[in-house]
Amino acid sequence: MLAVLVYGLLLLKASLGELQLQDSSARMSSNVTQIGEANLSSILHSNEVVFVNFYADWCYFSVLLAPIFEQAAAHLKLEFPDAGKVLLGRVNCARETELADLYHIQKFPTLRLFYKGQATRREYRGQRSLEALVNYVKSHFQSEIVEFQEPEDLAIIDPNRRSVIAYFESAGSAQKLYQHLADRFKHDCDFYQRIGKVEEGRPPVSLTFRPDVARTYSQDEEYEGDPADSNQLESWILNKCVPLVREIDFSNVEELIEQRLPLVLLFHLPSDLKSVKDFRAIVEAQMPEMRGQYNFGTVDGVEFEHSVRHMGKSRKDLPIVAIDSLKFMYPFPSFENIYRRGQLKKFLEDFLGHLKQENLRMTEATAKEGQDTEPPRSTFKDLGPSKYRYSLLHDEL
Ligand SMILES: *[C@@H]1O[C@H](CO)[C@@H](O)[C@H](O)[C@H]1NC(C)=O
Ligand SMILES: *[C@@H]1O[C@H](CO)[C@@H](O)[C@H](O)[C@H]1NC(C)=O
Repeated sequence: MLAVLVYGLLLLKASLGELQLQDSSARMSSNVTQIGEANLSSILHSNEVVFVNFYADWCYFSVLLAPIFEQAAAHLKLEFPDAGKVLLGRVNCARETELADLYHIQKFPTLRLFYKGQATRREYRGQRSLEALVNYVKSHFQSEIVEFQEPEDLAIIDPNRRSVIAYFESAGSAQKLYQHLADRFKHDCDFYQRIGKVEEGRPPVSLTFRPDVARTYSQDEEYEGDPADSNQLESWILNKCVPLVREIDFSNVEELIEQRLPLVLLFHLPSDLKSVKDFRAIVEAQMPEMRGQYNFGTVDGVEFEHSVRHMGKSRKDLPIVAIDSLKFMYPFPSFENIYRRGQLKKFLEDFLGHLKQENLRMTEATAKEGQDTEPPRSTFKDLGPSKYRYSLLHDEL
């Protein structure tokens, strides 16, 4: 009898404890703001930095991320206590399907940062650790622009990187616009500026693009538009800082694969920059209209030796040009043929014409696995977003 009573009391105590627990967790409200279609815009416009986790409840990786994102929000709240500075938010994509469509969410979790109301050009693909998330948010409060005084100071510019160099007579609205665009394009270009009296005869504001001279035959180019016109200046910077032929490495390959365009790749020895320059010049001169049909890139054939071997080649065969359609790889017959006007272009045009057939062949190939007439399988496809980090909405590229 007594035992039953004690047992009953214990049960009662336990359930009271549970109640208290629920109560306190409800009171301890989350530092991550739930965002919906109705309030996204007002949240974006009332906060300088908004870092958004687009998630789905059923996604394992979203579940893993949630407590870390919560910790990051708590951490940032202490570091940036003023309202309107930093906000961490989450969008439940199963419920907010319109927002998920608007931001082309293809996988969970997708992390996107908005700076002054505008989405940054690249989504966050880094580590999902407290430290990495916090540092990423904080990096948006550091200016990306390097100040210089004398033209000789520009000797520090790395010839492997693209840069924009600006002269402002005084800090005004044009300089503010430059600051904003430097933040948007900081991963594509380096930005330099000098504020102060300009030389006699120079305009009060001038901008110069300096290409990655170690890797191209292009030269410095002056901006001839209006430095206060944001659309004009942004499209100039986009055009210069995101060239038709990009250098591809492990830090940017995932994002390129996600665009699902076939790749045209030059595999070269790291020391061989002549073939890089030649390939870029030929593509830029002969195939500018193929932007949007292909992603063009140059890759270090030693770093990507796996792909080179996969085509049945080795280091001593470099340089090699090849299409990776994200299904198969098609080496261009003999690198030297790029110097014969129109040959590479024809190869690329023919390939686009055969894309449909390739899809047919793909179904055939899966039916009769392992035929030796089949081209080597794509090696770049596997470098896209990994199913070990994301729940992918479209498994097949
Ligand atoms: C924003 O909208 C979401 C979804 O409708 C809602 O859950 C959330 O409470 C709202 N947040 C704010 C701060 O108004
Ligand atoms: C929210 O952040 C504050 C300040 O960092 C922290 O004290 C609190 O515990 C956090 N709340 C939750 C639910 O994590």
